[in-house]
Amino acid sequence: MDAGDEVQSGTLDELAETISDADKRQAIHAVRSAGDALFTWDYDQSRPALVKLYEKAKTSMWNVSSDIDWDIDVDPWKIARDPNNPLNTTMAIDRVGTPFEKLTDDEWYDLGAASQAWTLSQFMHGEQGALICTAKIVEQVPWIDAKYYAATQVMDEARHVEVYSRYLKTKLAHEFPINLHLRALLDDVVSDPRWDMTYLGMQIMIEGLALAAFGFQYQTSPDPLLKQITRYVMADEARHVAFGVLSLQEAYRELSGSEIRERQEFCYEAAVKMRDRFLTQEVWEWAGLPVRECCDVMLHSEMQLEFRKLLFSKIVPNLKKLGLLDAGDGWLRQRFGELGVLQFEDWEDTGAEYERMQLEHTG
Ligand SMILES: [Fe+2]
Ligand SMILES: [Fe+2]
Repeated sequence: MDAGDEVQSGTLDELAETISDADKRQAIHAVRSAGDALFTWDYDQSRPALVKLYEKAKTSMWNVSSDIDWDIDVDPWKIARDPNNPLNTTMAIDRVGTPFEKLTDDEWYDLGAASQAWTLSQFMHGEQGALICTAKIVEQVPWIDAKYYAATQVMDEARHVEVYSRYLKTKLAHEFPINLHLRALLDDVVSDPRWDMTYLGMQIMIEGLALAAFGFQYQTSPDPLLKQITRYVMADEARHVAFGVLSLQEAYRELSGSEIRERQEFCYEAAVKMRDRFLTQEVWEWAGLPVRECCDVMLHSEMQLEFRKLLFSKIVPNLKKLGLLDAGDGWLRQRFGELGVLQFEDWEDTGAEYERMQLEHTG
C-alpha cells in the first residue's frame, strides 16, 4: 500500500452514495448562482496572451454535424472486450473474492459496456457544468479580454455537450444520470460568488483532470469514432485550461496569504474527491450489485489507483505555475506528496502546451 491510499475523502458509505430516485426523475436541477455581473468600460485589449488565445479560438471552431464521421459503426460489446480500453473501468479488476466473481463472462462484458457509457455520460454532464461555469465567467470576470475568450469557450462547451450526447444516444446502449459527487463539485463551483473560484474549480481542476483523461483515452481508445471526437475536444480543452492558467496567474499576484491558503485548501479537497469518488457507482446500482462492496473493490484495485494518479498529470504542473503548490510554506506540496502525485510537478504546463495541441482549421 502506498501513501496515497491513506487519504480518503469520506467513509465508504459516503463514497458509495448516488443521487436519489426523486432526483433521477427530475429533468431540471437548480443551483443558486451568486456574484455580481460586471460591465467594463475599458475596451483596451491589454492582455496579449489572452488576445492570442481568443484569436486561436475564433479559427478553431468545428461542427459536430459536419466534421465528425457519424457513419462509423460502434460495437460497444466488442470494445468492452478490448483489454486496452480505458473507458471500461472494470477491465483491470481481479474478480476473485469480489461481488463480480459470480458473474458469467457475458454479464461481465455487459458491465464493461455499461461502464464505458457511464464514463462518457459523466463527460457529458461535466461538459454541461463547463458550459454553465463559462457563461458565468463571461458575466463576472472584470477584463474585456477574458470576457471575449470566455464567450468562445461557451460555444466550445455547447459543442462538447452536443457531441457526447449524440454519441451516447446513437452509438451506445446506455446513458447514466450524473454522479452525485460530480454534481456536488459542480454545485460548489457554480454557487461560489468569486469569479476566480469558478476558474479554479472548472478550468484548473475539472478541465485539468478531463484533459488528462482525454489524452489517455485518445492514445488507447479502440473506437475510431470516439478517437476522432476526443481529438477535437482535446484541442479545445487545452485552450480552456490555458485560459485558466493565464487568467489566474495575474489574479493571484494580488491575493493575501490567507486568501491563497483558502484556494489551496479548495484545490486539495477537490483533488481528493475527484480521485476517490468517481467509482462507477451508478453502474453497480443499475446492475443490481451491492454498490458499497463494488466501490470498495474499485477503490483498492492497483490499476485503478495508478490510473487515478495519472489524472493529476495536468493539474499539478498548472497549480505549480499558478504558485499555489508552493505558496504558504508549501502547504499544498505537502498534501499532494501524501496523495502521491508530486511526480507530475515538472511535466509541461498547459499555459505552454495548448499550441501544440491545436488542430489545423479545415472548414
Ligand atoms: Fe469541454
Ligand atoms: Fe472545456
